[in-house]
Amino acid sequence: MRILFNFAALVKRYILFTENDDCWSNFLALPKNMLTLILDTLHRLFYILPLKPRQVQIEITNRCNMDCPMCPREVLDIELEHMDWDKFVTVVDKLKERENITLTGWGEPFLHPRIFDMIAYCKERGHRVMITSNGLFPKESIADEILNSGLDEITFSIDGVEDNNVSNGHTSNKVYENIEKIARLREIRKPSIRLQATLHEGCEKDLYNVIRFGARIGVEAVNVGRIDRKYAPELKRPSPVEEERIFYEADHIANECGIRLDWLQYAVGTRMVRFFYRLLRKKLHQSGKYCLKTFDYAYVSREGNVTPCCLLPEVKMGNLLDGDLQTIWQNEKFNHFRKNYRDTCGSCDLWVIDQVDSDQVVRKNQIPS
Ligand SMILES: C[S@@+](CC[C@H](N)C(=O)[O-])C[C@H]1O[C@@H](n2cnc3c(N)ncnc32)[C@H](O)[C@@H]1O
Ligand code: SF4
Repeated sequence: MRILFNFAALVKRYILFTENDDCWSNFLALPKNMLTLILDTLHRLFYILPLKPRQVQIEITNRCNMDCPMCPREVLDIELEHMDWDKFVTVVDKLKERENITLTGWGEPFLHPRIFDMIAYCKERGHRVMITSNGLFPKESIADEILNSGLDEITFSIDGVEDNNVSNGHTSNKVYENIEKIARLREIRKPSIRLQATLHEGCEKDLYNVIRFGARIGVEAVNVGRIDRKYAPELKRPSPVEEERIFYEADHIANECGIRLDWLQYAVGTRMVRFFYRLLRKKLHQSGKYCLKTFDYAYVSREGNVTPCCLLPEVKMGNLLDGDLQTIWQNEKFNHFRKNYRDTCGSCDLWVIDQVDSDQVVRKNQIPS
């Protein structure tokens, strides 16, 4: 009996895909989850694209109430404006049901005067809705409105906790109370909350503190991202060896605190998903031939332009005001970009596994064909 019980505990701990430890009913969903994981892994290994993007990000505003030194918002040559309601409605009406929609552009989403109407409009159409915010709410009522909005997931970008020394990152110290308030007052873990930190050279202690802060206030996960240097080459980040060392330390701290750590270059997800990701991450997308971002993601600008990445406002694959997403997703221009993304993206390595040496890319591009 005892052996059976131990076996059951093992299955529950390591094999079930659920993030909810009490949920034995998920056992019945195991074969389906397993099949989904295997198919998704095979598709990613061989870079077999889904018929439409699974994640659509809509640039609802480029206006912001912070001025983070690292942020390329001001150098991207985009209008620092809100998206019109009519364009928003046209874009959302073009999406199929049950899309994962992120309502965030190069600005602070809660500055948009109709942000809660936008969330409601997407929810009424059955979509999963997410937002990334700097946590500096323009009105006190925003926290309560978020809690009542039906928002599925909110990610707060912080690069350190109070008295942090990430001078190029998010700068306001007023946000921690807001984040903690949402975490404390939400019901049955909705919206789900993530913290998102960028890693700057010499600032790993700030990252470790973000992980501890996330665990203390009970959020679901912490994301860590590399710093983009394409638009801000002066930003300093750890070398590949240092970055890996920091990941292992961060992973250790996250395990000790009991919080999930998602770091695209090393590990994402929990349990079996995490195990397979760690094992296969360098083999995904034909062993790194394609940028991970190009597999299932599309960005829609405030004018309705579909681009492959938030960092490429000029790379327009089509416009959703007069086209449909599935056709744009599969068109020749988009496929050509996927195959030749380095020609456009240069040394960007935010969504690839290994760090890219910018000199190497310049040298490669100079070789005559
Ligand atoms: C542009 S912000 C927009 C949403 C919101 N204003 C915020 O800060 O979360 C989205 C994400 O971009 C990240 N980001 C800004 N500048 C970056 C850079 N140079 N490299 C990598 N990520 C950057 C931020 O940390 C944030 O998590
Ligand atoms: S990173 Fe976010 S908060 Fe900071 S300036 Fe850019 S858009 Fe604003």
